[in-house]
Order: sequence, then C-alpha cells, then structure tokens
Amino acid sequence: MTTKPLAGKVALITGGSKGIGRALSLRLAASGANVVVNYSSDSTSANETISAISAEHAFAVKADVGSVSDVGRLVDATIERFGKLDIVVACAGIMPLSELEKLTEEEFDRVMSVNVKGPLFLTQKAIPHMTSGGRIILFSTTLNAASTVTPNYLAYCTSKGAIDQMTRILSKDLARKGILVNAIAPGPTATDLFMKGKNEQVLKMIAGFNPQGRIGSPEEIADVAAFLAGEGSKWVTGQVIRVNGGMA
Ligand SMILES: NC(=O)c1ccc[n+]([C@@H]2O[C@H](COP(=O)([O-])OP(=O)(O)OC[C@H]3O[C@@H](n4cnc5c(N)ncnc54)[C@H](OP(=O)(O)O)[C@@H]3O)[C@@H](O)[C@H]2O)c1
Repeated sequence: MTTKPLAGKVALITGGSKGIGRALSLRLAASGANVVVNYSSDSTSANETISAISAEHAFAVKADVGSVSDVGRLVDATIERFGKLDIVVACAGIMPLSELEKLTEEEFDRVMSVNVKGPLFLTQKAIPHMTSGGRIILFSTTLNAASTVTPNYLAYCTSKGAIDQMTRILSKDLARKGILVNAIAPGPTATDLFMKGKNEQVLKMIAGFNPQGRIGSPEEIADVAAFLAGEGSKWVTGQVIRVNGGMA
C-alpha cells in the first residue's frame, strides 16, 4: 500500500470553500491531509466542500480573516479538532476594482484587512503551533508583474505587493523554526472572483495575454500549492511563484 504524500498532515486553508481555495482543499485532502476549510459568508459552498472530502477528514470554520480575533479563533478551532498544524494556506482574498478618484477609504481599508492583515496575523497565530517542516503559502497575483494591468487594480495590487514583501521577510524570520514561506501569484483563473463582471469579449482579450491563449483553472493553481506543501519543495522558500501560462 502506498502512503499518500501528506498523510498525517493538517492543512488550514482560508477561503477554502470556493475557487482556488476549494480546489486546494480537495487537492490537499486527496494527498492525505486533514483539512480545515475557512469561509466568511456562504455556508452552502463550505458544506459542499466538506461533503466532497469527508466529515472525518475535513471541517468548515466561518471566520472573517479581516478580523484578528476571528483568525485566532480559526487557529484555535484547528488545534482543538486535529491537535496540530502543518500547512497554512492564506488563500482568501477580495478584489474590488476602483480607480484612484473613485476609491473610498472604506474600500481601501477592507482590501488591506482581508488581503494583508489577514495573512499576516494568521501566520502570527499559527506559528506557535507549527514545527520544523511547516509550510506557509500566501497568495499574490501575476498582475504585480503585468504591463497590461489597468488603473482600477490600484488597491488590489497594492495589497498583493505587500504579500510579496511579507513572503520575503517571513521566509527569513521563520527559517529559525524550519518553516518555509512562499507565495503563489496566479494569472487569470476561472473563479467567481475573476469572472465577475466580465463579458465574453473581455475574457477573450484577457486569455490572449498569455501565449497559451486561455484562462487558467483553479486545479492548475492547486497543483503548484500541493508541490509547495509537499516534501519536494524543501529547498524552496521566500519565492513568489507565478502560475499563469507565461503571461508575465
Ligand atoms: N482568480 C484569479 O484570477 C486570481 C488571480 C490572482 C490571484 N488570485 C488570488 O487567489 C486567491 C483566491 O481567489 P479566488 O479567485 O479563488 O476567489 P473566490 O473564488 O472569490 O473565492 C474566495 C474565497 O475566499 C472566501 N473569503 C472571502 N472573503 C473572506 C474573508 N473576509 N474571510 C474569510 N474568507 C473569505 C470566500 O468565502 P465566502 O464566499 O463564504 O466569503 C471564498 O471561499 C485570492 O487571494 C486572490 O486574490 C486570484
């Protein structure tokens, strides 16, 4: 009998109920990990994700990653149920689009809370429970390196720029504990977040931004996260890995 590569590991995935996070929940569970699926509002999607794995090896926790106390509760719930934490994936993110003149303070604060404060304090709360060989996987965006980016991505790309720096600095800090920190920077990927408000013509144009001429799938991003979560990535840390079919 072959042992699954992540057998015995515990993975916590924020935004693990939909899109890329859901693909990741399923992928890490298929590799043998016990999985904690975080979400913030849609319990139906979260419960469907748990059913697609099994109630024995996965459970859902409603928590707003923009709230430090919620993030603490999320980590506590993980430890209470599975007793440890090996892989933390900060996948939850939001992408409201406004150009400079229309951007409100409220919108800016919300993007920074969910996309920056969330991953940072999640890492802070998780680290005391993690041991050598642990993995932190953050989420950036290929747009940070794409000349095709439009002005309405101002707040979003500002928040993801912070993730790139967080990855760099945390990888140095957490090396003392033997914990590896990397980020994935997806290109356009077919999820609710990306598809919202885009018509066929726009989607075709965006697909043309990479030489493969198509939009990526959540599973293609999950494959790279599974690599980062596994034994094969033990010499990889502090990297922002673009997964985008060659877009940038
Ligand atoms: N899709 C792309 O093209 C693309 C490209 C580059 C980077 N990314 C990044 O990849 C990550 C995943 O994106 P996605 O496209 O998979 O998004 P998505 O389909 O919109 O899914 C977002 C997930 O995050 C959860 N979520 C949202 N706000 C939350 C909060 N405050 N607290 C906890 N959970 C929250 C959602 O749950 P509820 O619905 O229950 O709130 C859902 O499970 C994001 O960080 C995004 O910036 C995506």
